[in-house]
Amino acid sequence: MKWMCFPVVAAVIFAAAPVGAARQVEVVVDAAHPGPVINKNVYGQFVEHLGTGVYGGLWVGPESPVPNTRGWRNDVIGALKALHVPLVRWPGGCFADDYAWRDGIGPRDRRPVKINTNWGGVTETNAVGTHEFFDLVDLLGADAYVNGNVGTGSAGEVAEWVEYMTADGPSALARLRATNGHPAPFKVAFFGLGNESWGCGGNMTSRHYTDLYNHYATFVRARKEAMPALIAAGGLDGDVAWTDSLSRHIRANASAISLHYYTVPGRGGKAKGAATGFGEDQWMSALQDALHMNDLIAANVARLGATDPGGKYRLAVDEWGTWYDPTPGTIPRFLQQQNSLRDALVAALHFHIFHAHADRVSMANIAQMVNVLQAMVLTDGERMVLTPTYHVFKMYVPFQDATALPVQVAGAPRYTLGAASIPAVSVTAARGKDGRLELGLVNTDPHEAADVGVAVVGVRAVSATGSVLTAAAMDAHNTFAVPDAVAPAPLAARIADGRVIVRLPPKSVAVLAIGE
Ligand code: AHR
Repeated sequence: MKWMCFPVVAAVIFAAAPVGAARQVEVVVDAAHPGPVINKNVYGQFVEHLGTGVYGGLWVGPESPVPNTRGWRNDVIGALKALHVPLVRWPGGCFADDYAWRDGIGPRDRRPVKINTNWGGVTETNAVGTHEFFDLVDLLGADAYVNGNVGTGSAGEVAEWVEYMTADGPSALARLRATNGHPAPFKVAFFGLGNESWGCGGNMTSRHYTDLYNHYATFVRARKEAMPALIAAGGLDGDVAWTDSLSRHIRANASAISLHYYTVPGRGGKAKGAATGFGEDQWMSALQDALHMNDLIAANVARLGATDPGGKYRLAVDEWGTWYDPTPGTIPRFLQQQNSLRDALVAALHFHIFHAHADRVSMANIAQMVNVLQAMVLTDGERMVLTPTYHVFKMYVPFQDATALPVQVAGAPRYTLGAASIPAVSVTAARGKDGRLELGLVNTDPHEAADVGVAVVGVRAVSATGSVLTAAAMDAHNTFAVPDAVAPAPLAARIADGRVIVRLPPKSVAVLAIGE
């Protein structure tokens, strides 16, 4: 995060605030020293054959009474398009290391039916396979990140899948793809080799996986312009030992090493914690756990600094998000959970962390896009509701491919509960692709507002407009009956002496565009 450091130029005096008063916070953004570009792929999504994440939530099939386009739900696709989803990872997750790609091509009524042994032992019809997935990413306008099978597959199967997707000319696999309805090669932007190979992907050691990675990656071959960027699977909860092993011993082609870390409020305890109806201790614990992502990325970045000083490998945080106890009454292995205002703050804090590490973190995929874990959208039959996480992804669209700017929060104010303490205010800033200055702000304190003054070095602000996401309760959430309980509202900011002054309500996320 070296690029983010610059001297504090604002002198601020903090007085102890009376209960109910707003905390005074001074922020300095250094527009004169732009940092790296925030890869839009850090706003990526993840879709796995898990619960109703694909079947029912996204895919209903062309014959369904639910309005659809070639089987994909129109309502869900329409909502997701507003997020400018840059990238979708598929088919897993743990499911990827059991997936036989040939089961998912050809006429759907002749595809083999299997058991999804990872996720509840339910029937997997293979109705969604390679062609359907590429139709999904086309509908969304996203890039494809296909995750290959290193667990139960072979290097040959991986090689053939990549050839099937990317080859043209006289290749028999390219001709098979054409017979199956797609003469033109698919564009595979990223291809992953294995998933959580320390666990569900094969219980391997880092060294064993590194050797396997080299083996499999050697046979991922395609025309130069069609060659996907390859991603190596990383260690448990961002275990630095895996990053170390991979970055030292990868001999084949690789673009990034992955890192997974989930926010679990009850980490270490018997239960993960409830998605709603929680107390302030669980509010604090979730946000604290979310902020731990910064420590994990920093540790991995530091290790790469030693093993890969030339910056050959990026970090791909290709699974992140909240993981609670499943919604009571649902199939536990479907990982269904409600999504509240707390999730919106968790998401925004992650964005700020990814922005701060934009020089190494080139991708992040929230788990998962629909109905599973920290979802954008929840469905029930024909009904759909947008979650607070959806809204925060939409608010942060201007940060996709924006240039990060250094930010300093003077005095580093804290929100404290008992022995736990985290930054009360988190701020990120960037210059968007359209040249506009964008600010993202989070107030983690559920009780106290923050009056934030923002000075932008080298810029005299003349306007600041934006939106804020907040609610009366920490666990406020949207339901099919009340779909807009948590929705963004316009945020009034004023300008004084070229500075932006904005009041952040307690427990809120805000995004402001600054006019110069
Ligand atoms: O996202 C759910 C699961 O979490 C994924 O399949 C696995 O990679 C991780 O443990």
